[in-house]
Amino acid sequence: MCGIVGYIGKKNATPILVEGLKKLEYRGYDSAGVAIINDEGINVVKTKGRLAVLEDMLNKEPVEGMVGIGHTRWATHGEPNDVNSHPHVSENGRIALVHNGIIENYIQIKEFLIGKGYEFKSDTDSEVVAHLIEYNYKGDLVAAVMATLNEVEGAYAFGVVSTDNPDRLVAARKDSPLIVGLGQGENFIASDIPAILKHTRDFLIIEDKEVVSIERDKVEIYNLLGEKQERGILHVDWDVSQAEKGGYEHFMMKEIAEEPAALKATINPRIKDNDIVLDKFNLSDETIKNCEKINIIACGTAYHAGVIGKYAIEKLARIPVEVEVASEFRYRDPIVNDRQITIVMSQSGETLDTLMAMREAKKKGSTTLAIVNVVGSSIAREADDVLYTWAGPEIAVASTKAYNTQVAALYLVAISFARRKGLLDDETYKKYLEELQEIPGHVETVLKDKEVIQKFASRHFNAKSVFYIGRGLDYALSMEGSLKLKEISYIHSEAYAGGELKHGTIALIEEGTLVICPLTQEQLLEKMISNIREVKARGAVVLAITLEKNASEVSKVADAVISIPNIDPFFAPTVAVTPLQLFAYYVSVMKGNDVDKPRNLAKSVTVE
Ligand code: AGP
Repeated sequence: MCGIVGYIGKKNATPILVEGLKKLEYRGYDSAGVAIINDEGINVVKTKGRLAVLEDMLNKEPVEGMVGIGHTRWATHGEPNDVNSHPHVSENGRIALVHNGIIENYIQIKEFLIGKGYEFKSDTDSEVVAHLIEYNYKGDLVAAVMATLNEVEGAYAFGVVSTDNPDRLVAARKDSPLIVGLGQGENFIASDIPAILKHTRDFLIIEDKEVVSIERDKVEIYNLLGEKQERGILHVDWDVSQAEKGGYEHFMMKEIAEEPAALKATINPRIKDNDIVLDKFNLSDETIKNCEKINIIACGTAYHAGVIGKYAIEKLARIPVEVEVASEFRYRDPIVNDRQITIVMSQSGETLDTLMAMREAKKKGSTTLAIVNVVGSSIAREADDVLYTWAGPEIAVASTKAYNTQVAALYLVAISFARRKGLLDDETYKKYLEELQEIPGHVETVLKDKEVIQKFASRHFNAKSVFYIGRGLDYALSMEGSLKLKEISYIHSEAYAGGELKHGTIALIEEGTLVICPLTQEQLLEKMISNIREVKARGAVVLAITLEKNASEVSKVADAVISIPNIDPFFAPTVAVTPLQLFAYYVSVMKGNDVDKPRNLAKSVTVE
């Protein structure tokens, strides 16, 4: 929920930190700050508001130093204001800290420290840790941080600097993301790779409950017992521009435009010689054949992709699938055992609810398969198997290309499992593989029609409430369309099973109500056309998204029709979602919202 960055080297740290924070603003943007170590001591500049406010302050009164930490915040404890922004400084003013996560026992620690005479300036949980490090400091900053981490409970990624240790940066993590970037005579920390990719392509992935001592030419990793840990270097070949807007007005539009490439990168490498090859899969045929149930757990958009996965896996592999939001799954003592496979969906691979739900499933004996976009993320590393969605960095808070590729990955799993269970004959298997490989081209075609969607959005961006209705896969798709609109346009919206409307909700339909209907499931087409007639009869305005071959029939009942190429309805969601994403995007732009960083949200929800 927040972004942290740190630098130690021979250059002025300030611009490096600010630049890194710009890449991390998607993780939280209600306040920002830096702490720079120089001969005058710790120089903290921090403020409520977007990073631009901090940057303006630093331009007016520059601060120089070669060691420093920075933070961009999504408030959890303590409202967004100057005092609650990070970095936080210890009582004696000699230690500064930035934190991403939540300290769950901060009240007890705060009471203890108040009893020791410490005074607190902020309402945050993070400030408590700055004072506790001071309390534990006996001359060795790494040891003081280690002692502190043995006392705190909760999720954290910390960056710590101290005037008594001007040539050292200390970092630590548990459940919140943290990587170390390795340079020549300089080293970095950050919440994710794009923040410092401009400076290095070599990284160390820090594991949970590890403390890192970082000097200009040395990086040492320890566990909380003080035992040194070895770690291989992760070299990334990403093109730096992938983490830039590349001429688009918003990251969201750039990432929608990247969908064909992202789908190709996710699908094609997994189809070799007309067979699905899932990279380094440990799941044996026996495990799949004996699997009694599949759980799919995720949050938000990833959950909606999981609902599509349920339909796909049950239809082809005939294994019962239960899809559940991670925050519910993890607290209900779910019935899970070693005859189940749990698929964990996450773009960031750091969503805390999803990570904890996966741990719950593992603890109960389930085999776990992660479908994740960020390489080396916590969920990817802790799962038994990982199937990466090679969508590239997704910066906009509203997930788009990640959804398309998550659904594509689930199709690969569904088809592979069905084939390995002997349920797909050669002809059907070959047909499905061909259809999968045509998906990127179909999305390319849909993207050519974006002006039609933009025009429809221009007529409806002042809607007060929008209904998305569909049946089968189109109902699952409606959930995602509705979320996209809500989170970036702030218009209330609901997704409803078409057959459910008449059981109450149709009472809400009145003159001018906007209803959006994905109609890609041909065997349900007539039923959905009846639903459109029902809402039209009560004054609704209907936008339908349907296959080209059904467009003329559907246009007889709907007010507007967006057609997508004639794809097998089974695969339609990966293509039909793009018009829904574009509609939400254009409405948000027309309302003047911050499309990439919508209010109250952050890209990676690493708090509970
Ligand atoms: C999607 O548009 C949202 N930003 C949000 O629902 C997101 O999908 C959810 O927080 C899960 O994130 P993850 O995929 O990184 O786990």
